[in-house]
Amino acid sequence: MSARSRVGSVVDTLLDRTVVLGFGSTGAAVRRRLGGPVWPADPAPDALVGERVLVTGATSGIGEAMGRSFADLGASVHLLGRNTDKLAGVAAELRRAVPNAEVVEEVCDVGDLDAVTAWADDFAARVPALHGLVHNAGTMTAEREESAQGHELSLAVHVLGPHLMTSRLRERLVAGPASVVWVSSGGMLGAGLASDPDAIESRRGAFNGVQAYARTKRMQVVLADAWAHELDATGVRVESMHPGWAATPGVTSHLPAFARITGPVLRDAREGADTAVWLVATRPESHSPHFWHDRAQRTTTLGWQRPEDPDAVRRLLTYVTGATGTAPFRALAGSTA
Ligand SMILES: NC(=O)c1ccc[n+]([C@@H]2O[C@H](COP(=O)([O-])OP(=O)(O)OC[C@H]3O[C@@H](n4cnc5c(N)ncnc54)[C@H](OP(=O)(O)O)[C@@H]3O)[C@@H](O)[C@H]2O)c1
Repeated sequence: MSARSRVGSVVDTLLDRTVVLGFGSTGAAVRRRLGGPVWPADPAPDALVGERVLVTGATSGIGEAMGRSFADLGASVHLLGRNTDKLAGVAAELRRAVPNAEVVEEVCDVGDLDAVTAWADDFAARVPALHGLVHNAGTMTAEREESAQGHELSLAVHVLGPHLMTSRLRERLVAGPASVVWVSSGGMLGAGLASDPDAIESRRGAFNGVQAYARTKRMQVVLADAWAHELDATGVRVESMHPGWAATPGVTSHLPAFARITGPVLRDAREGADTAVWLVATRPESHSPHFWHDRAQRTTTLGWQRPEDPDAVRRLLTYVTGATGTAPFRALAGSTA
């Protein structure tokens, strides 16, 4: 490693540990300037020509920015949202901005398991192969809310719906082969893994929306790692990432005080989308636990935290496959929860 690379790597680590600098716009800007191993090269401008990418939660913020970035790289982009009018508006804007792009509107409520099943089966009948799938849809509620199937809402939107979607689109992902990316959150670093049904469903004690959000964001990272293992031999890549702190309608409406305080340091939505887009467009080598931020793999546990407990992981995965009626992960087949 050259002296310049060593300095770059030290600065990158410092940014990561200071959180405010690393997660905000400074982190992305400094890392981009450092280049080299800290900020690997951009994808080629035509990296995704002839490829098909689906983004969930594409009607706002980071997902909307992703749609634009994927279209700029030549992909056919499927924008998935739950609000038909909002989706039509975002799709029209994307077609105006990138006139040659193929933009397809997909309507589905990711938190409703029946809707995901119906939509995924329809999608699989229309689309033979998918090259990129970004699980970006996200939510945070002040009170405990439940999905159509009675699951805590952030669990349904962040974990159960995306898991079911991945499972039902499995053959189309293998046909790509695809890169699947779960958009988690740096907030997951402060949350432990919930592994018994009451904790997973946030039924224990007073409900705290920020905590439920962070817990489900950690579940996403664990689930992505399990899917990476499951699809290892198929050519499908599965990663999770966190976008840092980006100025989006979601942050303003769910965390107004946070948005006010951090406003000056927030990155823009396109910077928040960058690592997910880069992962799909460049398919870098990665290793467990496959968790990324600013184009580099990051730790999923801070210094004082223990590594993920394999029994807790097994219990969570068993709950997820049970709640979604999907096949057990190969690594767990035959084991009891
Ligand atoms: N911004 C940040 O600083 C930050 C930090 C860490 C992680 N993240 C993650 O980044 C992702 C995008 O967040 P954002 O900041 O861009 O938030 P946002 O502006 O609120 O966008 C969230 C998107 O998810 C969609 N969505 C929510 N529930 C859905 C459902 N049940 N079915 C389908 N779509 C649904 C929303 O649709 P509607 O338009 O219909 O509401 C919207 O398009 C989220 O997963 C979030 O957790 C963001």
